[in-house]
Amino acid sequence: MSLRNFTKRNLFPFLPMATVLRSLLHFLMLLYVSNTLLGLAQDEDQFIYNGFNQAKIAEIHPNGLLQLTDLSNNQVGHAFYQVPIKFNTASSLSFSTNFVFAMVPKFPTEGGLGIAFTISPSRNFTHSGENWYLGLFNRSSNGSPANHILAIELDPSSNKAFGDIKVNHVGIDVNGLKSNESAPAMYFSNKEVKNISLDLLSGNPMHLWIDYDEAEKLLNVTLAPTTISKPDRPLLSTPIDLSQILLESMYVGFSASTGGVSSYQYILGWSFNRSGSAQSLDVLSLPQIPRQRKMKAKPEPMILAFLIAVAVFLITVLGAAYIWRRKKYEEIREDWEEEYGPHRFSYKNLHKATKGFKDTEVLGEGGFGKVYRGILPSSNILIAVKRISHDSRQGMKEFVAEIVSMGRLRHRNLVQLLGYCRRRGELLLVYDYMPNGSLDKFLYSNENPNLNWVKRFRIIRGVASGLLYLHEEWEQVVLHRDVKASNVLLDAELNGRLGDFGLARLYDHGTNPQTTHLVGTVGYLAPELTKIGKATTGTDVFAFGAFMLEVACGRRPIEVRELPGRVSLVDWVSECWRKEVILDASDPRLEGNYVVDEMELVLKLGLFCSHSMPEARPSMRQVMQFLDGDAKLPQLPHDSAFGAFSSYGSSDFMSFPFTQASAPSMSTTDSILKSGR
Ligand SMILES: *[C@@H]1O[C@H](CO)[C@@H](O)[C@H](O)[C@H]1NC(C)=O
Ligand SMILES: *[C@@H]1O[C@H](CO)[C@@H](O)[C@H](O)[C@H]1NC(C)=O
Ligand SMILES: *[C@@H]1O[C@H](CO)[C@@H](O)[C@H](O)[C@H]1NC(C)=O
Ligand SMILES: *[C@@H]1O[C@H](CO)[C@@H](O)[C@H](O)[C@H]1NC(C)=O
Repeated sequence: MSLRNFTKRNLFPFLPMATVLRSLLHFLMLLYVSNTLLGLAQDEDQFIYNGFNQAKIAEIHPNGLLQLTDLSNNQVGHAFYQVPIKFNTASSLSFSTNFVFAMVPKFPTEGGLGIAFTISPSRNFTHSGENWYLGLFNRSSNGSPANHILAIELDPSSNKAFGDIKVNHVGIDVNGLKSNESAPAMYFSNKEVKNISLDLLSGNPMHLWIDYDEAEKLLNVTLAPTTISKPDRPLLSTPIDLSQILLESMYVGFSASTGGVSSYQYILGWSFNRSGSAQSLDVLSLPQIPRQRKMKAKPEPMILAFLIAVAVFLITVLGAAYIWRRKKYEEIREDWEEEYGPHRFSYKNLHKATKGFKDTEVLGEGGFGKVYRGILPSSNILIAVKRISHDSRQGMKEFVAEIVSMGRLRHRNLVQLLGYCRRRGELLLVYDYMPNGSLDKFLYSNENPNLNWVKRFRIIRGVASGLLYLHEEWEQVVLHRDVKASNVLLDAELNGRLGDFGLARLYDHGTNPQTTHLVGTVGYLAPELTKIGKATTGTDVFAFGAFMLEVACGRRPIEVRELPGRVSLVDWVSECWRKEVILDASDPRLEGNYVVDEMELVLKLGLFCSHSMPEARPSMRQVMQFLDGDAKLPQLPHDSAFGAFSSYGSSDFMSFPFTQASAPSMSTTDSILKSGR
């Protein structure tokens, strides 16, 4: 024998089809239940269900949970013990029951209409009108003594029509939903000696005891969480004479309903006894409530707004970081660059190599931009990165092509170009790292050791050899355009290596072609450059002449702080030469420690290369021959003019407004140079 009459009806009036299906299902269920569950005999007067496993009905969960309603609206559910119990007979009317129930609402504060433990003469409630009546009464039958119904309602909602005290209460109803007595859901804690509120819609299982004592005519209702045993004091202790209400044969069970709000309403276990105390339920073995069915609480609008704001903020920050990162490493690559593929470096790698172009990594700053030391992340190779900014993309293609083609130049006296990278407004050139820096630092800074003559002479020959390679030994003539001590770098063995070759061309490209620019550095500029403005091998030779004098004399080609007559180095050397005391011009820091023939050769060759007439200057091949001693330097006529200004005997230089500092852009000084003649 088991729980049997278990029906569920949706009372929503406009669903005839659903109702038909439901009735059909109900019928099939009854058939099934009556066929399979008969014979599980239990005592007529008492029974206990620690879960409802025996009752194999759809609404009984596999774990034995009895589900009276689900989350659908306007629904009723009944579950009554199959056989009627004898009540109002000669024996006492006393009874005892306890059960564990749970309400798991859709939203925390809004649940179903409640569960009622019901003692009723019939278990047919098809006449019950609306779900507000907990599936027990209809509008006309509500309150009628003809009902003979006792109900203990567990009501999470409140209905003023029934005089409900407030939401979340327990009430004793006789023949109608207007409670005889009710109390807010709470329990008396024996331990703390006080009443503690309970929320019927908490979703937690709760224990309810109902005890009626015939002698005292007192109906006790006691509520408690399942975590504690039965409290000493009942929630309700109501005097009531059940003999006036109950009939001889009564069904016991549960009725529950949902309205516009709903919850899963479960009975987890039930124990009943007509003669004596009902057995205690084994709380620990009761079925579990499927918690995951509980809908997530609607978050507070403020919290929701905050969370959205946080999310938007995070997305913005991440997006900005992403864009910033992309921008940071953004490069310009064009199809035509494909052919230079192997020479292309990624900006990201160069950025990493130079620690983000940190100031501490700056090796030097030239007319084109800063040079940074770097270590390539993949190979640990030391590099120098020249960062050149340019305003225009005009001619960039030709320039890059030219620069990159120079990557194929290989000579031990040239600084090897390893590759390049291109960004908006920026070109990065990657060179071999030269550990000893540029030559001018050794010549002019006291921090570095003095270079002896052997080293100086070797550097001069090396640079001459590198320049010869550019002029004559490669597949095409490459002009350096800016030979000077600060463009000569020293490798680990202090070999001189020409750097920055071809770079001066940047000013031909990418700038306004309307204005003519002289490229190079004052003091190294051949006179014809200021007139014709066209660089030739001859102009490179002129600059090399100035460079040779610079190394031999240990001073810059133009030194405004010098005595009058010594401002221009070439003028001074030529004066010494005319006076036949050319060695007087040698670097005093050498203290006479040099090979006289070599010093004389370098000074005279320096003058020779600095000849005002381009035709009179030697070629780099000849220069090389002179330096190697393979050819004898010809006797120069004493009336030869040297230098850019051939200002023998003049001290006009003092009025010049510029210094020896590198000044690659010369268009504005053009006229001054001319007037200086
Ligand atoms: C109300 O229920 C009673 C039985 O309790 C029934 O006789 C009556 O017809 C029902 N009234 C309505 C309007 O359904
Ligand atoms: C607890 O509630 C009951 C009513 O259910 C009341 O009679 C009783 O005084 C309360 N006890 C305490 C300690 O608040
Ligand atoms: C009902 O509660 C009262 C008051 O706590 C108590 O005296 C009485 O014994 C209880 N009756 C039953 C049947 O539990
Ligand atoms: C040149 O560089 C090498 C390698 O870094 C170093 O050992 C040497 O001392 C340097 N020479 C001078 C003169 O600084």
